[in-house]
Amino acid sequence: MDFKTKLHDCRQSIEGAIDRLMPPADRRPRRLHEAMRYSMESGGKRLRPVLLMAAAELDGPAHDPLPSAVAVECIHSYSLIHDDLPCMDDGDLRRGKPSCHRQYDEATAVLAGDALNTQAFLLLARHYRDHTALAVELIEDLATAAGSERLVGGQTEDIEAERSGRCEAEQLDFIHRNKTAALISAALTMGGRLSRGGGSGVEILREIGAHLGIAYQIIDDVLDATGDTGTLGKTAGADLAADKATFVQLHGVEASREKAKQHTGEALRFCGDLPGDPAFLCQLIRSLEFRIQ
Ligand code: IPE
Ligand code: IPE
Ligand code: MG
Ligand code: MG
Ligand code: MG
Repeated sequence: MDFKTKLHDCRQSIEGAIDRLMPPADRRPRRLHEAMRYSMESGGKRLRPVLLMAAAELDGPAHDPLPSAVAVECIHSYSLIHDDLPCMDDGDLRRGKPSCHRQYDEATAVLAGDALNTQAFLLLARHYRDHTALAVELIEDLATAAGSERLVGGQTEDIEAERSGRCEAEQLDFIHRNKTAALISAALTMGGRLSRGGGSGVEILREIGAHLGIAYQIIDDVLDATGDTGTLGKTAGADLAADKATFVQLHGVEASREKAKQHTGEALRFCGDLPGDPAFLCQLIRSLEFRIQ
């Protein structure tokens, strides 16, 4: 099967699992469940769940990876809902539609984010309960990545840097490693734990995620500066307008592209050490360096 067909099929199975595993929109309180689904079902590239599936398939999945894939997307979607709030990046547009607080209201957006955060861990506990050690490892991977020293820590320093108007390379590296790379790494390690090899490649997958995650955020920063709103599905130029600390602001577009290329190369080099067949994962990583949205 060619890469595009495989990616399409993988995304389709993720969309189906999201629909199956999220609380119904008509469940009380209706507005909350509608808002959760509004954000979860509004498209997006589904990169993190696809990475998880790719890692699980390295030497064949031993357990159903879909509940884990949805759990990771729940954390990602919650982080975007909160990232768009007026007290954070104040984003009006997300995935080509009004952001959650714009479509509903701020309180509903805060609560929908909270509920998605919790839903992630409920899915892991519920779907892997017969494999206690595995369930605990998955929960630990995701909780660590989403926690105060990683995703939330990165978001905190992102906002602090914006407020102070000062950001050195070291702090920007901390922000990228944590707000973005941590969850991307967790998606890969969780996939590895679900594969037949039982996580023999977990440490390698963690390294791949670290490099890929930094490359991914650098390209996100480049796209903010060079892309257009219609293609991105979020407001282009928002970082510059908010005087955000970004890779582009610190180093310029060309150096940023070069840095993303270096990190992509590092990620691909680590792929060579993986057990099983990393062909799909490698193609996926290569495709991200030149993404346009
Ligand atoms: C946006 O992530 C935030 C970043 C960490 C760069 P994505 O670019 O993966 O967003 P969606 O899920 O496709 O909307
Ligand atoms: C967001 O980074 C990272 C998280 C939500 C954890 P950005 O603020 O750059 O993401 P976009 O550009 O709004 O998607
Ligand atoms: Mg942000
Ligand atoms: Mg933002
Ligand atoms: Mg951005």
